[in-house]
Amino acid sequence: EAAEKAGYEHFMLKEIHEQPTSIQNTFAGKLSELEGNVTLEELYLSKEEIKRLKRATIIACGTSWNAGILGKYLFEKLAGIHTDIETASEFRYSNPVLCGEELTIAITQSGETADTLAAVRSSTSYGCRSIAITNVVGSTITRESDSVLYTRAGPEIGVAATKTFTAQLIVLYMLAINLGRARGVISADEAKDLIVAIKRLPGQIQKVLSRKDTINECAVQFADKRDYFFIGRYLNFPVALEGALKLKEISYIHAEGYAAGELKHGPLALITDETPVVAIATKGHTYEKILSNIKEVKARNATVIAVADDDDTEIEKYVDVVIRVPSTHELLAPVLSSVALQLLSYYTALAKDCSIDKPRNLAKSVTVE
Ligand code: G6P
Repeated sequence: EAAEKAGYEHFMLKEIHEQPTSIQNTFAGKLSELEGNVTLEELYLSKEEIKRLKRATIIACGTSWNAGILGKYLFEKLAGIHTDIETASEFRYSNPVLCGEELTIAITQSGETADTLAAVRSSTSYGCRSIAITNVVGSTITRESDSVLYTRAGPEIGVAATKTFTAQLIVLYMLAINLGRARGVISADEAKDLIVAIKRLPGQIQKVLSRKDTINECAVQFADKRDYFFIGRYLNFPVALEGALKLKEISYIHAEGYAAGELKHGPLALITDETPVVAIATKGHTYEKILSNIKEVKARNATVIAVADDDDTEIEKYVDVVIRVPSTHELLAPVLSSVALQLLSYYTALAKDCSIDKPRNLAKSVTVE
C-alpha cells in the first residue's frame, strides 16, 4: 500500500496532487483551439439532433450531483438548453414529466451507484436519450447508456472524491461547449477563449497545490470548530456545496454549503463568532453580491475565509483569511477553488487525526439502495 501511495501520507492527498495530470488526460485530444471547438465523437449525436434538443435532465448522487449543478448552469449559459438537476434517489420516486425528447445525463464516478442506475432506467423507459459521464470503463452505466463520456482520471482509492470531481467538471465544460457550438449559441471565438483557459488549468492547479502550506495553516486554525458554513453564488454555489461535503465526509465537522443569497432565510440565525464561513469569492458577475453576503456574516461576528483570485486587491479589506487561486476565465474558476477546498478539508481532517481515506460509515460506491 505504501508503494501505491507514492510517498504521500494518504491516497486522498496523492489524488489531489494528481489533478494537473488527470484533467490533462480528461481533455487530451479533444480541444481544438484553432476551430474553437471540442471534438466528442463518442456522443453519437448529429448536429441536427443537437439543435433539436429542448431539455436535459442531469441525474447524480453525492459529489457527482454537485458537479451536475455546475453542468446545469453551463448547459443553460453555453448551449441554451433548459436543464434540470436531480438527485437520483429523489428522481426515481418522483413522477417526472418526460416526453422522450429530453436528454438524460447521468454523472457517476463509479458507474455503479444503484440509485443513479435506477433513475436512468426510469428516464430511458420514456424513450429519453442518455449520456453517461463516468470514470470506470465497462461499468454498468456504460452498458445502459446510449453514449459514454469518460472522465479518464485514473482509479480513485480515497473514499472522498477529488480528482474525479474536477474531471467531471472538465467533461461538463467540454460537453457544454460542444453543444453550444452545434446550436450556434456561442461563437468560435467564445469557445476558443474557454479552450485556451481550460488548457491553462493544469499549470494553475499546480500553483494552488504549491500554496498548500498556507491552506494547512488555515485548516489548523479552525480545526476545533463544530460548525462551518460554505457560501457561494451561481457557479460558486456548487463549489460551496462540494467544499462542505468534503469537510463533513472526512473531518466530521458539521458543514453546510449554502447559496449565499439564501442565508437571510434561515442560516443567518446560526452565525456566531464560533462559525467560520468560507466564502467563494472569485471574480464574476456575482462578485459584488458575495461581498454583501460577506458583510452580512461579518456583522454577526463570523470569521470569514475567502477563496479569491490572485488579482483581487480589495478582498482583504472584508475578510479574515484569504486563500488565493490563480485568475482564470470566469466560468472556470470553480475548478481551481475546488482544489483549494479539497486541501482545506484534507488538512482539517489531518489535524483532527481522522481516518481520511476511509471515513466512518461511508463507502466509495453505494451499490445498494
Ligand atoms: C458515495 C461516495 C461519494 C460519491 C457518491 C456517488 O457516496 O462516497 O464520494 O460522490 O457515492 O458516487 P458515484 O460513483 O455515482 O459518483
